[in-house]
Amino acid sequence: MAFSRADFPEDFLFGVATSAYQIEGHGFGGAGRTHWDDFASVPGNVVRAEHGGRACEHYTRWEEDLDLVRDGGFDSYRFSASWARVMPEGRGGVNAEGLDFYDRLVDGMLARGLNPALTLYHWELPSALQDLGGWRNRDIAGWFADYAEVLLRRIGDRIWSAAPLNEPWCVAWLSHFLGHHAPGLRDIRAAARAMHHVLLAHGSAVEAMRALGMGNLGAVCNFEHVAPADDSEASAAAARRHDAIINRWFVSALFNRQYPAEALEGLEPHLPVGWEKDMDHIGRPLDWFGLNYYTRKLVCAEPGPWPGLREIEGPLARTQMGWEIYPDGLSAILLRVHEGYTRGLPLVVTENGMASADAIRSGKVDDRARIAFLEDHVAAVLRARAEGVPVAGYFVWSLLDNYEWSFGYEKRFGIVHVDFQNLQRTPKASYHALARALAR
Ligand code: FCB
Repeated sequence: MAFSRADFPEDFLFGVATSAYQIEGHGFGGAGRTHWDDFASVPGNVVRAEHGGRACEHYTRWEEDLDLVRDGGFDSYRFSASWARVMPEGRGGVNAEGLDFYDRLVDGMLARGLNPALTLYHWELPSALQDLGGWRNRDIAGWFADYAEVLLRRIGDRIWSAAPLNEPWCVAWLSHFLGHHAPGLRDIRAAARAMHHVLLAHGSAVEAMRALGMGNLGAVCNFEHVAPADDSEASAAAARRHDAIINRWFVSALFNRQYPAEALEGLEPHLPVGWEKDMDHIGRPLDWFGLNYYTRKLVCAEPGPWPGLREIEGPLARTQMGWEIYPDGLSAILLRVHEGYTRGLPLVVTENGMASADAIRSGKVDDRARIAFLEDHVAAVLRARAEGVPVAGYFVWSLLDNYEWSFGYEKRFGIVHVDFQNLQRTPKASYHALARALAR
């Protein structure tokens, strides 16, 4: 690696991230059915209709996995808990085995000197709650706060940091407007409700966690560098709409207690009546803010209903996902979020990484493209820091090759290779390079 710990202050945090449904194996341990199990069972939604029933069998192999995090030299492990593992129906009854699992997992992190960085919801909604409308139903804020309380009464005393939801744009827009993720809706009204309710649920969970006396609470959103595909005013306006929906909606609400005008122009008719009265609840103070960053998007105008835009393919080198590699976008978004929204709050890059078609050859995985990707993005973090942005941590996505949602097991984001026949873990070259860079 072109960087080492010496390039950062002593308390800068390096971590690695995963999420529950992507690695645990939802068929184990009494977890309830989730809307991802339902979504995956409809032909055409997921590559080869793959699901998270077995995934990486982290549910039984978690000790080996935490050893890998420790031996990689990381300070922190960002993981998520599954709502349906804790409360199989989403409300009411608790699955004792599920709570025991997260209890053991957190103790396992502490025993290895790792700071547990918890996300409460990384996309698997109990099916029983989807039956009640899921993110369209305003009551989800209360259900979510109840789940937060049940889980954190048990493990909250040992959690280092917590964020209610991973990437609200994906929970709301990608899943209810674009239809690419569960529940797979393409419905402007459902999307607008979800865009608001996901923030309402964030506020309610933060309130519940504060009531339990927890500190170091944050939020995690995804960002793309957005640019117009050509010089036309129409494309510039389309890029501003895309930027408002993906990059500004959530941070504006969380930190400025308002929604951006270019997004409201299409969404306001579909928002629940009286939404303005929720903005103080949504914008309650946080202790840090997390950004997930992967790529940039070129956008042009598209005739038709709002938002009237289309993404076009750019000329830069791409990852296995087809995502353009654009490290400058990371420094730019860090600066922009700091200046316009968080104004001095510590920022954390909570996800960054790339997929590549990695294979084991003579016992080794040579993922030099990933090493270069990580080097270039860490350099972008250093540039942002040099410009005065208080970036306090950087987390690699992901520890393991895992269930990459609608792409199934085909896209490999891990710094550790997983053989999905026998679930054997093989650290890739990037893992070894990181371990050398992060050694104290
Ligand atoms: C992020 C998700 C994560 C993974 C990466 C590639 O949007 O948070 O679960 O899918 O993208």
